[in-house]
Amino acid sequence: MCGIVGAIADRDVVPVLIEGLKRLEYRGYDSAGIAVVDQQDVRRVRRTGRVAEMEGAAAAEGFNASLGIGHTRWATHGGVTEANAHPHISHGVALVHNGIIENHEEQREKLRALGYVFESQTDTEVIAHLMHHHLKGGDDLLAALQRTVKELTGAYALAVVSRQEPDRMVCARMGCPLLIGVGEGENFIASDVSAIIQATRRVIFLEEGDTAEVTRASVKVFDGKDQPVQRDVHVSDVSLASLELGPYRHFMQKEIHEQPRAIADTIEAVVDGGFSPTLFGANAEAALKDIEGVQILACGTSYYAGMTARYWLEAIAGVPCNVEIASEYRYRAAYANPKHLIVTISQSGETLDTMEALKYAKSLGHEHTLSICNVPESAIPRASELVCYTRAGAEIGVASTKAFTTQLAALFQLTVVLGKLRGKVTPEQEADYLEQLRHLPGSVQHALNLEPQIAAWAERFASKSDALFLGRGLHYPIALEGALKLKEISYIHAEAYPAGELKHGPLALVDADMPVVVIAPNDVLLEKVKSNMQEVRARGGELFVLTDQDSHFSESEGVHVIRTPRHVGVLSPIVHTIPVQLLAYHTALARGTDVDKPRNLAKSVTVE
Ligand code: F6R
Repeated sequence: MCGIVGAIADRDVVPVLIEGLKRLEYRGYDSAGIAVVDQQDVRRVRRTGRVAEMEGAAAAEGFNASLGIGHTRWATHGGVTEANAHPHISHGVALVHNGIIENHEEQREKLRALGYVFESQTDTEVIAHLMHHHLKGGDDLLAALQRTVKELTGAYALAVVSRQEPDRMVCARMGCPLLIGVGEGENFIASDVSAIIQATRRVIFLEEGDTAEVTRASVKVFDGKDQPVQRDVHVSDVSLASLELGPYRHFMQKEIHEQPRAIADTIEAVVDGGFSPTLFGANAEAALKDIEGVQILACGTSYYAGMTARYWLEAIAGVPCNVEIASEYRYRAAYANPKHLIVTISQSGETLDTMEALKYAKSLGHEHTLSICNVPESAIPRASELVCYTRAGAEIGVASTKAFTTQLAALFQLTVVLGKLRGKVTPEQEADYLEQLRHLPGSVQHALNLEPQIAAWAERFASKSDALFLGRGLHYPIALEGALKLKEISYIHAEAYPAGELKHGPLALVDADMPVVVIAPNDVLLEKVKSNMQEVRARGGELFVLTDQDSHFSESEGVHVIRTPRHVGVLSPIVHTIPVQLLAYHTALARGTDVDKPRNLAKSVTVE
């Protein structure tokens, strides 16, 4: 949600800022801007639309400076206008912000009374004026920031420069990610490492409440009490190749095709060392033995991963499991058994609703927490007792793909580990599950080979305005995921139902114009699904069946069938995710929508 970058160097930093914003664009892409300190003055360029448009304007105005900050926005307070785009400036102080200031109205009134005039509808502008107010009172830039943040409630990552102090930038973090890139004679600020990876791999992750002063030669970090603190310098292993498109047309396409590798990397430790509790941390065994059930909390696609896991956890590990949307859980007087393990699932590790749900669960007395996450050092794993990092690599397309299938792989590992600890999984079964996992990357590759057939289906979907997805049991969450992917990137209205529920209402929607996707591999519910399909055909609905070789479906009038090569047992939901991702991708392609940056969305949702 909004991306921040800042740089101070002996060279022109404008290309660094622009490059960084392009890499951060996945976080928000409705407007962008930069501000540079140039010969004792602050110059700013902002544009609605994409970074490329702002880049053109900056070039036309001849921007060139050795200190600057930049921002790419996902609008929350105030519409998508140039006036609302960041950076915001107050009397030579320029500031970029990610997050939401909850007490902005109260601050605005106070500042108005002091004579400040507001040019935007944003919550951010109050921070710029507050900064100026404190600078006017005699603070230097760092002291002004430290005083300002104490007057703010809400979430923020901030970077600030001032024409009065052309040799430093300052920044602060609370509830939104921010890191400092440590270079040679130059330093950087960024929302994530992708923005600065071309300049440096050495990064300091700021902690909640930290502020920092960054010059060309030094980085000084202060804790929430303004005391100097030492924070470790990490060397990022994010690869440049993972941030570039390579031969692909879109990041989503690239990320769909990366799944065999991403899953292989995620299961590497289990393939090498077996289903050991240490997959979740060195001291995980005691905690995992102590639990009596599992409560999963997540949003969106990650929630669907949790729904799939519930089937596994109850059937294989014999663990009672509940799954809840994080934004609902956090406002509900939930029944809490302290011995229920809280499992948060979050690709980004910074989704505010999931983070708040985790805090709430702890406040209710839950003793053990586990985070399944794709971004090392992000907020949610850092707030959790146990962690399992999926190794999907950077996911840049806004619609989650490889993060989802690797989450499922990690949740399956959790299932078997818990099953072993509870005596529900025998050594023979364990060996069998390991074998199934070993074959998973290959099965996913086979499913990817179905792309031409799926693309042909997509041509038919492109002209539709609605679609229905059906699945049962383990495959119902995959139907939900298929519907979410389709609506997210092609803007076709799509819904998913457990196939048995059709006759209780949604069947009324079915006619010849409603394509119905059915995920129907060969499992215990196959015959039931076949009956549900008859209900659709009898109403003239056109069926698009995703199945495997073992289910013996045949094509007929109004029934189209695509088969994955073989049945893969309980891991079948992972394999059947591939065709629904490809269907959404090719349908969006046929409709000409912006696949990687769908309207109104952003990758990391750090606001409520
Ligand atoms: C959909 C999608 C979202 C995210 C959701 C949670 O394609 O990506 O639904 O899954 O916003 O995000 P994380 O997993 O980062 O917590």
